[in-house]
Amino acid sequence: MSIDMFEPEDFHRLLPKNDDFMAALEEDSLKRGVRICGPDVANMLSVLIKSISAERVLEIGTAVGYSTIFMARALPEGGRITTMEWDEEAVKEARGNFKATGLEDRIESLVGDAREMLQGLEPGTFDVIFMDHEKYMYADDLPECVRLLRDGGTLICDNVAFRTSMDFKERLAEHPQLETTFLYGTFFRHSPDEDVVSISVKVR
Ligand SMILES: C[S@@+](CC[C@H](N)C(=O)[O-])C[C@H]1O[C@@H](n2cnc3c(N)ncnc32)[C@H](O)[C@@H]1O
Repeated sequence: MSIDMFEPEDFHRLLPKNDDFMAALEEDSLKRGVRICGPDVANMLSVLIKSISAERVLEIGTAVGYSTIFMARALPEGGRITTMEWDEEAVKEARGNFKATGLEDRIESLVGDAREMLQGLEPGTFDVIFMDHEKYMYADDLPECVRLLRDGGTLICDNVAFRTSMDFKERLAEHPQLETTFLYGTFFRHSPDEDVVSISVKVR
């Protein structure tokens, strides 16, 4: 896709460069087919976290911890991210990556089915929630995410254009406690390149 005379890369190259560790993790993930959000969306997560001075973040879907590391780095001193993943091999890898980047103190890595773990968390705990697990689960898990988000908090959902997320976009748009916008675009090294990411704020 090109917008007028610009290509997505023209914008991508303006974003902060990955350090060597993250560049290698990105490369390796893409090679192995690990579905990471890629540098453009990761950068967007970082900006959104900083824009509301978020201190508590929840991620659903860790994989190898690529997006988790971007978000953990965006947090202020004392900030914390809880990330959920049911694939034990992926968790092992992610925890190694958290250690290698010196971030393990600010990341709580939980293993198991997010649908069960979400229920055990206190309402209003999180400033930001990033939903990035199985797309067909989004609609059912939305009420839990809204419950766990503080008033004024931000919910970001990746891959909203997937058919498997079914009527999720309508549920988001019509949710009485959320105000939502949809970003449609070509996200560099995102899985897939062209997709929709939603950003919602909990308004009441
Ligand atoms: C798209 S990947 C996450 C990518 C990661 N957020 C990133 O951008 O680097 C989705 C992950 O969610 C995990 N997952 C899917 N459904 C889950 C569930 N119900 N509970 C926990 N993890 C789940 C999958 O095993 C997979 O590793």
